[in-house]
Amino acid sequence: MKEFELKSKIIECQLEDLNDNEHKLIEMAIEATGRSYACYSHFHVGAAIELANGELIIGCNQENAAFPAGLCAERTAIFAAGAKYPDVPVVCLAIAARGTDGELTTSPVSPCGICRQVIIETETRFKHPVRILLYGKEKIFVINGIRQLMPLSFTEF
Ligand code: THU
Repeated sequence: MKEFELKSKIIECQLEDLNDNEHKLIEMAIEATGRSYACYSHFHVGAAIELANGELIIGCNQENAAFPAGLCAERTAIFAAGAKYPDVPVVCLAIAARGTDGELTTSPVSPCGICRQVIIETETRFKHPVRILLYGKEKIFVINGIRQLMPLSFTEF
């Protein structure tokens, strides 16, 4: 029998540590929280994607009275990008959220398991890692590639 640990590399930083492109993407994710349709959870998530061709695409969570019919901000953005530019790799994804008090969250909000699976597929499909920026008012997490958040994923067999 053998026990082993899996490690994830997550970089904690502040806005001033990021470049202009990354600032823009975070700004867009924050702005997208204002477009979310979250009348059930009142948790408004925004996402912004940078594609390899320089295009920027936003998404936000879209809820539904039949709960499973709703979609997270990350997948809304990734699928919109896939529909518009099916052959262009996703290079960066920023996520921000406002809690039920309407304020941006203090801590970074991390993608749910299903979105992680979709981001894995996006990386695999385009053979390109996705840099992930998770915004929180107090700190930002930067993750270079979704595998840091999802080891032993289904695609790796
Ligand atoms: N949500 C996202 O948009 N992204 C995530 O990664 C986690 C959760 C949404 C789904 C739902 O509309 C609301 O947040 C509360 O779970």
